[in-house]
Amino acid sequence: MINKNSPIPIYYQLEEKIKNQIDQGDLKPGDMLPSEREYANTYAISRMTVRQAITKLVNDGYVYRKKGTGTFVSEKKIEQPLQGLTSFTEDMKARGMTPGNRLVHFKVVPATSSVANYLKIQENDPVYEIQRVRLADNVPMALETSYLPEKLVPGVTKEIMQSSLYEYIEAALGKKIKEATQIIESSTANQNEVELLQVRKSSPILLIERHTYLEDGTPVEFVKSAYRADRYRFMINMKR
Ligand code: GLP
Repeated sequence: MINKNSPIPIYYQLEEKIKNQIDQGDLKPGDMLPSEREYANTYAISRMTVRQAITKLVNDGYVYRKKGTGTFVSEKKIEQPLQGLTSFTEDMKARGMTPGNRLVHFKVVPATSSVANYLKIQENDPVYEIQRVRLADNVPMALETSYLPEKLVPGVTKEIMQSSLYEYIEAALGKKIKEATQIIESSTANQNEVELLQVRKSSPILLIERHTYLEDGTPVEFVKSAYRADRYRFMINMKR
């Protein structure tokens, strides 16, 4: 029930209630939410308050609006652990999903000063610049742009980038990937991401930057990824 005497805002109570119903499976992906009027009547609250709760759920990617039809529950988000340095291919296989790639571009370019700086190479040294849409069961999940020093990772081809880059580095080149630093920040989809990730304009996006190192500390990749925030959430276990 909604507690009107609680210091917790009413819109927030409704938002949490709907989120719980989604988490528990009472509302399933594709289900239509009751209308604003129905929620307002059921809980004796204003439609404005209902709209505020639902807009928050839309912005956080739990539900989506279809013009002229209603509001629907989104697909369940993938919960990605932040411990462990894994590849997209490994992550999807571990979930029983089929990883896929759509190569957007593949070039060898002279490193800009910032890419050279991250990869600890000279400016203008050749680097692969590879952009891929990463798919899970054919659904676009992320758009990744990777930079790799050509000398360190020779022989990368378009075909290799259609499957796992990490597998190529480790199994084919025999180089051990050891660690990475990852930075996550929020954003909204730009026009390119809207098209390639098949999301609505201004959809929530998680920007992830990964700097990855080999066993001897050599930087091997610098990656900028745009993950769909309506399909992903990140999880970490903490100890104290
Ligand atoms: C994840 C990481 C990327 C990394 C990729 C490798 O998606 N965010 O930084 O390049 O995995 O994946 P794969 O080996 O499947 O190509």
